[in-house]
Amino acid sequence: MKQKELTSRLMHIVGEEGVILNPADQETYVNDWLGKAHGRTVAVVRPRNTTEVSAVMRLCHQSHTPVVPQGGNTGMSGGATPDLSGAQVVLSLNRMKRIHDVDPVNNTLTADAGVILAEIQQAARKVGRYFPLSLGAEGSCTIGGNLATNAGGTGVLRYGNTRDLTLGLEVVLPDGRVWNGLRALRKDNTGYDLKDLFIGSEGSLGIITGVVLKLFAAPAGRITAWVGVQNLANVVALLNRLQADCGPRLSAFEMMSAPSLSLVTTQLEAHVSPLKKIYPYYALIELADTRLAGLQDMLQTGLSAAIEEGLIDDCVVAMSEAQSVSMWKLREGISLAQVKAGKAVKHDIALPISGLASFVAEADQAVLTDFPGLPIINFGHIGDGNLHYNVLLPLDVAPEDYKEKTTGLNKRIHDLVAQFNGSISAEHGVGTLRRDELRRYKSTVEMDLMIAIKRALDPNQLMNPGKLL
Ligand code: FAD
Ligand code: MLT
Ligand code: ZN
Repeated sequence: MKQKELTSRLMHIVGEEGVILNPADQETYVNDWLGKAHGRTVAVVRPRNTTEVSAVMRLCHQSHTPVVPQGGNTGMSGGATPDLSGAQVVLSLNRMKRIHDVDPVNNTLTADAGVILAEIQQAARKVGRYFPLSLGAEGSCTIGGNLATNAGGTGVLRYGNTRDLTLGLEVVLPDGRVWNGLRALRKDNTGYDLKDLFIGSEGSLGIITGVVLKLFAAPAGRITAWVGVQNLANVVALLNRLQADCGPRLSAFEMMSAPSLSLVTTQLEAHVSPLKKIYPYYALIELADTRLAGLQDMLQTGLSAAIEEGLIDDCVVAMSEAQSVSMWKLREGISLAQVKAGKAVKHDIALPISGLASFVAEADQAVLTDFPGLPIINFGHIGDGNLHYNVLLPLDVAPEDYKEKTTGLNKRIHDLVAQFNGSISAEHGVGTLRRDELRRYKSTVEMDLMIAIKRALDPNQLMNPGKLL
């Protein structure tokens, strides 16, 4: 089908205002947030509902047009960016923004895939409930993108990742057929769990158009603390101690190294460390419960004991919500501070928590020896064993040097991750960033199974080609 015919038929389905053809207006859809992935598109298509998504997919199926699904375009693995051919359609969910139902008795929320994560949190709050998925991009990422990447964030320690928060899905298949699996059930053993196939599939199997999410009792408030620690082994020991003392009240446990904190305080205005002295590592700790009574004492008792045991050197407990917010701003500012400071070679790795300290000791030594002088920006969701073990290259690094160092660093770090039985993507997904490396670290059996699933659902290879597999 000729390009002109394709675009006019797309307009017929979604209306003229739903198709973006002007390259200047396509800019934000064909480049990623990190400024690393760039592409071109024949058209950005913005359907308003599942029926329109289905008609667009049927047309793309008939015309053999590849489709790149896109939510908020905040992904970190290049998965939402079209390639440079200009032949792919970007299908944006950003006009599918309806919350259909909030049921505080069943504790569920049903929404379109294009709803912004922060709006889902807000809708839950309105009925006295809580939706715990939380991440730095929550003001612009969509629930469909969260599902497609099985996003993690800072609430995983207590509530699990996006997969754990999902009860039902609606998906438009590559040929346009609609699978309505919008069931609000906590138990359903009627065969294969199809929703789990699509969660984390990064747009490679179909378009997620709707979702049923779990809601939880709303916490009455939170107590936040910022802690200075001498080494990573002590950070892990503190995590174990607080888990034992506080049980499920421990709702977040994040780590940042001294260079990560210093990057934030130097790159971003009005970001100040709560502690005067510099420590090699910091932990950001949060307790939350449906009753606040006793929570502060619980945290303070735990931290005092940890000081006596020599696990931590210093700490501050936030005395107001404003103080708590400014502690969280330090943690959430790292992504932006990195973009401002240089070109980060990013790693999003998962390790058994018991292996974290030894892994970092070996990785630090490897980077120091093989890539001397490059700052290591190590931070992450340590309560989930998820590190963002990044290495910063200068902003003006030459493209060939960037490529060579990235390849070398990835291999060095990821080989070590494999030795520790870890994963090369904990929460950001594979996209284009890790696609070639995936084959190195997955077994042949795993790759064969994944390829068989892809072929069964998308035999013409039209869904997000070049991503993940
Ligand atoms: P997009 O970027 O648009 O897409 C991501 C992938 O999903 C692509 O492969 C795309 O093709 C696919 N996709 C999108 N929508 C659909 C759909 N409806 N159907 C099928 N496929 C679809 N991630 C974490 O896990 N934890 C964090 O703590 C975290 N922090 C972040 C902080 C910042 C500042 C930023 C910029 C990003 C962060 N991320 C984090 C990355 C994260 O993956 C995303 O923010 C989010 O989950 C992606 O949602 P999105 O709507 O922007 O998806
Ligand atoms: C985070 O934990 O802040 C994110 O996953 C983003 C990042 O790695 O930059
Ligand atoms: Zn993260």
